[in-house]
Amino acid sequence: MSHSRLHPLLGRPITITGLGTYVPEKVVTNDDLSASLETSDEWIRQRTGIGERRIAGPGVCASDLGILAAREALADAGLEPGAIDLVITPTISPDQLMPATAARVAHGAGCDNAGAFDLSAGCAGFVFGLAMAAGQVASGVRDNVLVVGAEAISRIIDWEDRSTAILFGDGAGAAVVSALPGGTVSSDGGAARLGILGFDLGGDGSGADSLSVPAGGSRMPASCETVQDRQHYLKMNGKEVYKFATRVVTKSAGAVLAKCGYAVEDIDLFVPHQANLRIIEGAVDKLGLPWEKVYTNLQKYGNTSSASIPLCLKEARAEGRLKDGDLVLLMGFGAGLSWGACLMRWGTGA
Ligand code: UT7
Repeated sequence: MSHSRLHPLLGRPITITGLGTYVPEKVVTNDDLSASLETSDEWIRQRTGIGERRIAGPGVCASDLGILAAREALADAGLEPGAIDLVITPTISPDQLMPATAARVAHGAGCDNAGAFDLSAGCAGFVFGLAMAAGQVASGVRDNVLVVGAEAISRIIDWEDRSTAILFGDGAGAAVVSALPGGTVSSDGGAARLGILGFDLGGDGSGADSLSVPAGGSRMPASCETVQDRQHYLKMNGKEVYKFATRVVTKSAGAVLAKCGYAVEDIDLFVPHQANLRIIEGAVDKLGLPWEKVYTNLQKYGNTSSASIPLCLKEARAEGRLKDGDLVLLMGFGAGLSWGACLMRWGTGA
């Protein structure tokens, strides 16, 4: 394909200039879970692909994990914390309803003068956060925005519910979004623009109840009954979410590729949200993408919601599977229901 094309993301070129991650040390295997739940390693691996997950120690909350990932992303970008203008924290397991977890993340990472807010878009949160950061930096309103997916999901999991307890894990992943000084490198020697190229974001609130924490907000305020009825835990209609996910991944991937003028064959690396290996395999099959171009690590971490994509990006880069010039498709989906795809050509041009 020709690489001279109009880019749907207007303004100055931007990219991810730094990545950071943190996962708690404690590993909980499927066998560990089957000691207290009626489940098995075989069932969990077959239905989800997950082998183990990390769980934060007592007293550790989402911002604690996010701060460590944020510091690493800043160092990776070679930026002082004071250079960050805005901190966005996508999370489904915030420290509190208010204030924003992002405020504590910003403070803990030393970005004290930065604006900070949380973003609630379920497991599509990281891609939504990138899109908000991209708009701010591309338009010149800000120079450096830190997106920090921070999740202590184990705190909102009902450990008596085997249909959800097996799926999730704790972790954090951060990315610095900055302006790019006009790089022009591409994997095929063409003149493709580096950095973030475009987004496709979507939602369907008719599925809001398919994946939610029913109580604790203004819809169902906390009471003795809500606690007794276990309504403060994450509830999921697994089948509905599964069907939705397999549907939107291909649709949204196709939409962002078309917007940016690329085809599935152009993709070098596909980094989907790590919800379930079967969802990913189904979507990849429908897309017609070879499996070598797909990155997964849910085998080790389970579903870490808004941390899953940066956790993949950093590991893929470390393993040499994410290289400068690669065309990368990021895809998030989850509560809302919501979905978001981002197409970017990896690299800083440095
Ligand atoms: O980040 C986005 C959010 N989440 C997702 O993307 C998750 C989407 N959904 C899924 O991944 C799948 O629906 C699950 C993995 C959650 C469930 O897999 P499934 O193949 O849809 O199983 P199911 O709900 O149809 O349950 C099949 C059977 C049921 O037993 P019966 O009624 O057939 O006797 C369940 O009770 O499996 C049983 N089951 C389990 N058995 C052993 C459910 N959870 C477990 C378990 N261990 N952990």
